[in-house]
Amino acid sequence: MDSSILNTVDLSKTYRTNDLVVRAVSKVSLQVHPGEFIALVGPSGSGKTTMLAMLATLLESTEGHIYIDGKSFENMNQNQRAKFRRQKIGFTFQDNNLVPYLTAIENVELMLRLNHIYTPPQAKRAKDLLLRLGLDEQLHSLPSQLSKGQQQRVAIARSLIHDPRVVLADEPTASLDTQRAKQVVQIFADLIHEEKRAGIMVTHDLRMCKYVDKVIQMVDGSINRIIDDQSDIDVLAGTSEFDKLSTPAIR
Ligand SMILES: Nc1ncnc2c1ncn2[C@@H]1O[C@H](COP(=O)(O)OP(=O)(O)OP(=O)(O)O)[C@@H](O)[C@H]1O
Ligand SMILES: [Mg+2]
Repeated sequence: MDSSILNTVDLSKTYRTNDLVVRAVSKVSLQVHPGEFIALVGPSGSGKTTMLAMLATLLESTEGHIYIDGKSFENMNQNQRAKFRRQKIGFTFQDNNLVPYLTAIENVELMLRLNHIYTPPQAKRAKDLLLRLGLDEQLHSLPSQLSKGQQQRVAIARSLIHDPRVVLADEPTASLDTQRAKQVVQIFADLIHEEKRAGIMVTHDLRMCKYVDKVIQMVDGSINRIIDDQSDIDVLAGTSEFDKLSTPAIR
């Protein structure tokens, strides 16, 4: 039996705008198991964000299938799909979309309220998570009063609080300094491992691969390379050889 939380089969996306046809993702099949944290790397335009948006149920695929806990959302209507997303998936994207008039803690608690699971113990979890992410002083600050990096950390807490099976993050450390980025990814990895979620993080910073279990490199919409040996990952995270594969391509 397939024990994966997330399973894609020949997942593809073609964008068509006027005369332009872009095959952004092409026949990607991957599995993510409970407690597994994957880094998705590759040059700019290789389809990483498109991939994540499809997995987050936010973008229709053109071909192929996605199963989360063995369940497909292909035939769900909009309401069913929104509920499925709310319950099963947590995500942070490049622009973190925090609600501007809610404080840091309220932004995190919002996910609990939307899922009707707001209770005092859950509220305590929200606070503890923000503390673990180093936001002790910012619990009651509005997003506009936070730095980009602090906003990103709130978004990470929000992506985890409602106990999602799948956690997706698109460059969650882009606004953080190296030290803080390492700390945040380490905590993110710990939470995925401890809570047995399926995690995928898109990153351009190979140093962050140190904390993942598997590195998947995309090129031109397809999986080009999978690195799952921890010592190989450690070497790649510390060398510049792999940088060539990840740094944005000049087009
Ligand atoms: N809404 C869209 N309409 C048309 N083409 C798009 C759209 N979004 C992305 N693309 C194209 O699809 C391809 C993949 O884009 P995507 O954003 O998934 O890449 P990426 O790997 O996330 O890049 P980056 O590292 O720069 O964030 C690119 O060629 C891009 O121009
Ligand atoms: Mg992207």
